[in-house]
Amino acid sequence: MNIAEQKKQALNDVQSAADAAALEAVRIKWLGRSGQLPAIMKSLGALAPEARREAGRLANELKNEVTAALDARKAAFESAAVRTSASAFDVTLPGRWRGLGSLHPITQVIERATAIFRSMGFTVASGPDIETVFNNFTALNTPEDHPSRAPTDTFYLKENTILRTHTSPVQVRTMLAQKPPIRIIAPGRCYRRDTTDATHSASFHQVEGLYVDRKVSLADLKGDVSYFAKQMMGPDVKVRFRPHFFPFTEPSVEYDFSCHVCGDKGCRVCKQSGWIEISGAGLVNPRVFEHVGIDANEWQGYAFGMGVERIAMILFGIGDIRNLYENDVRFLAQFA
Ligand code: PHE
Repeated sequence: MNIAEQKKQALNDVQSAADAAALEAVRIKWLGRSGQLPAIMKSLGALAPEARREAGRLANELKNEVTAALDARKAAFESAAVRTSASAFDVTLPGRWRGLGSLHPITQVIERATAIFRSMGFTVASGPDIETVFNNFTALNTPEDHPSRAPTDTFYLKENTILRTHTSPVQVRTMLAQKPPIRIIAPGRCYRRDTTDATHSASFHQVEGLYVDRKVSLADLKGDVSYFAKQMMGPDVKVRFRPHFFPFTEPSVEYDFSCHVCGDKGCRVCKQSGWIEISGAGLVNPRVFEHVGIDANEWQGYAFGMGVERIAMILFGIGDIRNLYENDVRFLAQFA
């Protein structure tokens, strides 16, 4: 057999080796110390110079090509072993890019609002979603026959245990636990038996605020809320205060932010009014101070409870509150 034919034969042997052990046998047969290649080399000495040079070239070629084929086949066996072994995954596949997650718009609003109030000297307080009727209603001066206490409006778990309908019970918890001066905000989830529509959800978020000190007035509330609005929405936002009623504040107000989406011209988010209702607020009712043992002659306070979803809707131009709760990644990814 001439050398070219032997090379063909060797490459054929490499390709037909069924596993790593067979491959090693092929290597020994051809390249091993007493294999075919050394035999060929030895036979070169008997040749005439001209023929020797040509045969040497062919022998070298055999050696190089067979070595390369052996290496390639060996690598193929190794990666196949990784692919098929039960404990391992296929390290040879390209990685799967799953994309980066991002904070939910509600979380973003809460974090921004928290940062702004922190810069104004507020600390963050919290309370549980499951509350007592006392903390949620009674201590907040809500009359026994007030409609908001009815099981048609409020989720009752037991007779005196409910899902909180607002974050205001955190006011009560805070004032029972610490003495004035007090300056806290309390972001959190609230629950009401509302029928879901474009602006209502049975579960939503508020950021409660409570400031108790000497000589606190409605002017402090207006100033702080206006400052917050500009920090949160931008310098062009307008804030409007309207008289209102809450059992736990006196006097009480509601305040609106100008609609950021349409620049107060009127759109679907603000229902064509140019304004979005953001929050209830007022000066802490002395009856609430009585319930928590704070002397109303010495201390005054303001409180507010802002709707987080409302802020998110105008900040991001979201037309329907339900978008915030359906967890459609294509929707949420827009606010990354
Ligand atoms: N708790 C009120 C609500 O949910 C808002 C509010 C908070 C009003 C604090 C006054 C003071 O509507």
